[in-house]
Amino acid sequence: MNVGVLKETAEYEQRVALNPDVAGKLIDKGLEVWIESEAGLASSFLNEQYEKAGATVTASREELLATADLLLAVQTPPAEDLKKLKKGAVVICFLWALQHPDLVELLKELELTGMGMDAIPRISRAQNMDALSSMSSIAGYKSALIAANELDKYLPMMMTAAGTIPPAKALILGAGVAGLQAIATCKRLGARVEAYDIRPVVKEQVESLGASFVEIELQEEDTETEGGYAKEVSKDNQERQREVTHRHVAKSDIVITTALIPGRPAPLLVTKEMVYDMNPGSVIVDLAAENGGNCELTEAGKTIIENEVKIIGPLNIPSQLAHHASQLYAKNMLNLLDLLIEEGKPNFNFDDEILLNTTITHKGEVISPLIKNN
Ligand code: NAI
Repeated sequence: MNVGVLKETAEYEQRVALNPDVAGKLIDKGLEVWIESEAGLASSFLNEQYEKAGATVTASREELLATADLLLAVQTPPAEDLKKLKKGAVVICFLWALQHPDLVELLKELELTGMGMDAIPRISRAQNMDALSSMSSIAGYKSALIAANELDKYLPMMMTAAGTIPPAKALILGAGVAGLQAIATCKRLGARVEAYDIRPVVKEQVESLGASFVEIELQEEDTETEGGYAKEVSKDNQERQREVTHRHVAKSDIVITTALIPGRPAPLLVTKEMVYDMNPGSVIVDLAAENGGNCELTEAGKTIIENEVKIIGPLNIPSQLAHHASQLYAKNMLNLLDLLIEEGKPNFNFDDEILLNTTITHKGEVISPLIKNN
């Protein structure tokens, strides 16, 4: 079976779907790996390293697409690439099928099997395939570094001959995978860290990282789905949340926001009024920028300054740590392929919860119950 890896073409994308190490592991399993020339260059993996692992490096994207039985990518390849694949080929990448019904139609029409790395269920057995977690963790880490870099203050307490500097105050809103990593990184850098999440269960995790949890009394309401995700809360509770958050935002040097609600726009947590109550020089990093932002003033992909507060809305942060992001993504992919491939061929066993939910289309049909029932 022929595995093809494309050079990513999306703007700002520096990752690659396979690193040489994982390419070698697939070759050891009896698969043939073809990689587009310089596909790994932006993430510091060289053609020679892939060749040494046993892969074939080709400058011909056309040939790679025409021969691939399994196409691995980070972002969804452009439609013109998908159209060049063989009928029945399998494409594995981030598909975000719920948000892209046209893509689902195209995959059906072309009779391609589309598997979404974003659709892997968040269950214990799938943890080692969970690319969303790997990438969120990187985003959380990097968001803290971006904030530290943009702040014109020290993060740790500094006792110098010229006087003592108190530690910077960081507030993390949303303490899921990204938020927890942002907390851990700000702590390592020496900041005093507070965090808040709508799911009360997170309090213990926040405290175990040495940060303090901001308590907000909400009117009785279930804030968590069965799958462990946040729900959108009532207007009343949003008001209560904002009242308390306002005081904490106002005294923070750094605010990192990471709050998301699956299938909904990101919740508004930091209003314009809050920004106007912050001290000059403070920094907000809004990791929800791609989903509408948690801060009212965020502009996706831009850094803006309002009231002398920097509001940063970065796009595709994992790509900024492309080497390790690719390494982890490739390992997530390998673990998924270990489940999928039996005796050198994909075995679409839809009795398996992971394969059922991850497979968006197969043989011209929609398979994933989430997409089917939408
Ligand atoms: P996410 O990226 O969907 O959301 C980030 C955080 O924002 C969440 O913690 C959420 O509660 C919070 N949030 C949403 N609305 C908010 C609001 N109004 N105010 C404050 N915070 C708000 O979530 P993520 O990081 O992908 O993880 C969600 C859950 O999935 C967690 O419980 C995590 O433990 C679980 N999970 C399970 C895995 C597994 O078992 N394989 C793997 C990864 C995550």
